[in-house]
Amino acid sequence: MTERSDSSPGSGSTLRRGLGDAFDTGSTRRYYEEHAEAYARETGSADLRQVWRLLTERLSPRSRILDLGCGAGRDLAYFGRAGYRVIGLDYSFNLLKIARADSNQRVVLGDLAMLPFATESFDAVWAVASLLHVPRQRIRVVARDIRKILKQSGVFVASVKRGTGERVDERGRYFADYEVSEWGGLLGDVGFVDVEIQTMKEERRDLHDNAVQIDWLVSVCKKRSARKMVVRPGGL
Ligand SMILES: C[S@@+](CC[C@H](N)C(=O)[O-])C[C@H]1O[C@@H](n2cnc3c(N)ncnc32)[C@H](O)[C@@H]1O
Repeated sequence: MTERSDSSPGSGSTLRRGLGDAFDTGSTRRYYEEHAEAYARETGSADLRQVWRLLTERLSPRSRILDLGCGAGRDLAYFGRAGYRVIGLDYSFNLLKIARADSNQRVVLGDLAMLPFATESFDAVWAVASLLHVPRQRIRVVARDIRKILKQSGVFVASVKRGTGERVDERGRYFADYEVSEWGGLLGDVGFVDVEIQTMKEERRDLHDNAVQIDWLVSVCKKRSARKMVVRPGGL
């Protein structure tokens, strides 16, 4: 694993550790459902150029990308314009309506914990700011399922917030935060290789219009290619 860092340690407000299901992750979904339009406005113009490049520089033209937790479709629109074949999945119907209308790309209503896709069907999976809502105790299963739907040598880009433990933010959303070593270790454990993690900072306004800084971990890695068995003709 390689790490590139330009920031100080994160400062997530950790409420509890290791309680996973004790958090009502239904309130996360409710938040996106009830605030879809506001959320689309809040995130629609985020500057993702550096992160988009992490993926596009590793892909061939027309590659098939799955945007997991696509939200209001900002990245679907970008990848679609860039000529990739994209599909978005999200569990918020209201966000998906916006994503569909604004990006003109295919979207699927679904849960990223139960992926409705065939094995080895994507060249890349893009999960920006979505796996951070998966309860800590389920993240390895989800990461393994993502690996399964990637083609051999497929690319996986994901971002989570830097920190430790689990918390619920003031909007009622559940978050699992990770430090570099834990996130990188987890990706390696479930069979990803060439793991690179960058830390990035984002300035935003919170609900009360105060300036806040978010520390992101952005990972890019690959599904290891299966070894090919070479069978040579001839007897003993
Ligand atoms: C922080 S938003 C990020 C949205 C988008 N990727 C972006 O960067 O703007 C998290 C997104 O993940 C979706 N999401 C969270 N948990 C999910 C789950 N279990 N299944 C499907 N979508 C989920 C939410 O509905 C929301 O759209």
